[in-house]
Amino acid sequence: MEHLDQLVQQAAADFAAAADSAQLEQAKARYLGKSGSLTERLKSLGKLDPDARREAGAAINAAKTAIEAALEARRNALREAALLAQLAAEALDVTLPGRGAAPGGLHPVSRTLERIEQLFGSIGFIVADGPEIETDWHNFTALNTPENHPARSMHDTFYLEGQDEVLLRTHTSPVQIRAMQAHVERYKDHDTMPELRVIAPGRVFRVDSDATHSPMFHQAEGLWVGENVSFADLKGVIADFLRKFFETDDLQVRFRPSFFPFTEPSAEIDVAFMSGALEGRWLEIAGCGMVHPNVLRFGGIDPERYTGFAFGMGPDRLTMLRYGVNDLRLFFEGDLRFLSQFR
Ligand code: DAH
Repeated sequence: MEHLDQLVQQAAADFAAAADSAQLEQAKARYLGKSGSLTERLKSLGKLDPDARREAGAAINAAKTAIEAALEARRNALREAALLAQLAAEALDVTLPGRGAAPGGLHPVSRTLERIEQLFGSIGFIVADGPEIETDWHNFTALNTPENHPARSMHDTFYLEGQDEVLLRTHTSPVQIRAMQAHVERYKDHDTMPELRVIAPGRVFRVDSDATHSPMFHQAEGLWVGENVSFADLKGVIADFLRKFFETDDLQVRFRPSFFPFTEPSAEIDVAFMSGALEGRWLEIAGCGMVHPNVLRFGGIDPERYTGFAFGMGPDRLTMLRYGVNDLRLFFEGDLRFLSQFR
C-alpha cells in the first residue's frame, strides 16, 4: 500500500517540523486523532471483506506503529532541546572569581568620634547629647549670647522656615546647658553635687561650603564643672588627649587668646607636629576657655562655688590630620573608593 508509506513519511516530516510540543500535539492529532487520517483509514476497514480487512488492517497497524515511533522520537528530541536551552540559560560560569563578602567599616569621622569618647571616657567623661534642631535659647541666649549680640553674626545660622525660635544648632555648645541642667536636676536633693564631666560629639550646621567647610560638620564639646577646676586642668586634659589621639609625644600644643561669649578667658587651641608632612605648622583644632559665670547660672549652677572649663573641637579636622586627608568634602560624598581605605 504505497500511500500508507507516504502517510508515514508525511507524518514523520510534520513531526520533525514541529518546533515545540504544542505544535507536535497538533501534528499528532492530524494523523492519530479522532478524525486523523490514520484513524479514518481504520474506520474504513469495516467495509472490506474479511481477507482484505486482515491484510489492510495489518498494514495500517504497521503504519500506526511507525507514526507513533516517529512521534515519540520527536517528543524526546524536543524535550532534550528544551532541557539544553534551560541549562544554557541558567549556566553558571564556575571559573569566575567569587564576589566575596567585603567587610564593612566605620566612617573615618565615626572612628574619630568613638576615639574621642573613648579617650575622654578613660578620664571620667560621660557622653552627653542634645537635639540637632535646637532652640535659639540653648544655642545662643543661655550661652551668654543675647539677641542682637554681635557674636550671633559669627555663626551663619540655618533657621527653620516660619519659626524663629528653633534652628539647626551651629555648635555643640548648647549641650553644655542641657548637661548642666540635667546634672543639677539629678542632684537637687543632695547636699553636694559631684563633678560634671561630659563629652558631646555630634553634627552641627552652618551656611558655609568650600574645601574646608561643609554645611554639616562635626564638633565634640567637652565640659568639666566642679570645685576648683582651673585653666591648668584644661591645658593638661587637652595636651594629654592630643598626644593620645595622634599617638605621638612629638607634638606641641599652644593656647592662643581668643574670644567666645560663653567662656572667659577664652583661647584657641593649636597643635604643631614636630615631624611628618605638616612639621612645624600650627593648626587650629579647638576653641576653649573657662565657663562664663552667666553660662553656669543659665545651667543652674552657682558660679560662686563652682568653676569649669569647656572646649569645642573639630573632629573632621582631627580626622584629616590623623589620616592626611586634604579635602573635607571627601568625608561627606560617600565615595566607597575613598571610604574603604579606612576599613
Ligand atoms: N562653640 C564654639 C564654636 O563653634 C567652639 C567652642 C569654643 C566651644 C570655646 C567651647 C568653648 O566649649 O569653650 O566656634
